[in-house]
Amino acid sequence: MKTAVSHAAWSPPADHLAHVYAQWPLDVVDASGVHLHTREGRRILDLYGGHAVAALGYSHPRLLAALEGQAHALIFQSNAVPLAVRARAATKLTKFAGLGLNTAFFISTGAEANENAMKLAFKITGRRKIVAVEGSFHGRTAAAGAVTWGAMQKWYGFPNAPFDVEFIPKGEFAAIPRVVGTDTAAVIVEPVQGVAGAVDLGRDFLAALRARCDEVCAQLIFDEVQCGMGRTGHPFAANMYGVTPDMITTAKALGAGFPCAALLMADHVASHLKVDDLGTTFGGGPMACALIEAVVDIIESEGLLENVRKLSQRMRDTCVVGPVTGVQGAGFLTGLRTRRPAKDVQRELLERDILTGTSADPHVVRILAPFVLDASHIDALRDSLASLAA
Ligand SMILES: Cc1ncc(COP(=O)(O)O)c(C=O)c1O
Repeated sequence: MKTAVSHAAWSPPADHLAHVYAQWPLDVVDASGVHLHTREGRRILDLYGGHAVAALGYSHPRLLAALEGQAHALIFQSNAVPLAVRARAATKLTKFAGLGLNTAFFISTGAEANENAMKLAFKITGRRKIVAVEGSFHGRTAAAGAVTWGAMQKWYGFPNAPFDVEFIPKGEFAAIPRVVGTDTAAVIVEPVQGVAGAVDLGRDFLAALRARCDEVCAQLIFDEVQCGMGRTGHPFAANMYGVTPDMITTAKALGAGFPCAALLMADHVASHLKVDDLGTTFGGGPMACALIEAVVDIIESEGLLENVRKLSQRMRDTCVVGPVTGVQGAGFLTGLRTRRPAKDVQRELLERDILTGTSADPHVVRILAPFVLDASHIDALRDSLASLAA
């Protein structure tokens, strides 16, 4: 029976925005290179990149040229119209990955990429259970939220999970055969967990998941929405570990600021697809595809993977100072482990004009730096950390 829903007295905020985010005390007006500029004239070194998105920093000339060129040529057409730029983006991206995941499906967000990956796993296996790893973050939608650790208790909001879900404690090898069985459609895992605090799950654990998925004919999905597209200093974490999943989802750095996402599939996965199985209006639009093509091109031609590897090593070698007791993660998905609450260290760094992030771990400051950083920026971080109370 329908009963009345009561509403508290409420007036909308002056800016008419839904206030669902805690926000930093920043009034950003524009940005260039790796710096944000505020209305009052501060120049802030951005080591967070809008949750790992601004991989090429700001105003990269080749990125802007791709954006402008495509906007003039053709701003939008859907997947009902074949486009050369879409085919070029898919070819470029699958070659960049180089993992034999030869087919791309483009969507607009990371959560949507994960939804589609899981949907395909259900279709292929005819099973109804997904296994995820404790600490995971896979997105806010019904399926992605259902496999996100802690979402049910915190913000899930839908009446039920849409399928069966079980979690494996990270690094607990013995749990793998117990939890992943012949009822499992897929295991979804972030090889380096982002929101959890830059937690590197390691080659052995990922290889064990791969082996078990092979044994029970389950699909292995790497969620590389945050750790992919060069962030580890390798095209994908899968390349870094030498463990190849059946599907990779990626987003964030993929468009370096233009909203887009991709699902990369092995041939044995893509062979199950027929017309109408998947769909989207905006995914694979020409603007997104022009940017994906440009991002891969820039990462490759400017040696940015090497830059990430070199500078993340410099961070590891030099930034264990002040309140930092250790460094975790991989590449520019770095966690600085702090003796004091990470939120305090983050606030103090921002007072010194360096923007960093936090994570689900209250003692990890998260660095999601742009790939175009140079050594002087790492040194600035080190000097600022060194000036803070231990
Ligand atoms: C690993 C991972 N997967 C999925 C998502 C969801 O991506 P989106 O916010 O684009 O839906 C995120 C976002 O932070 C993420 O970090």
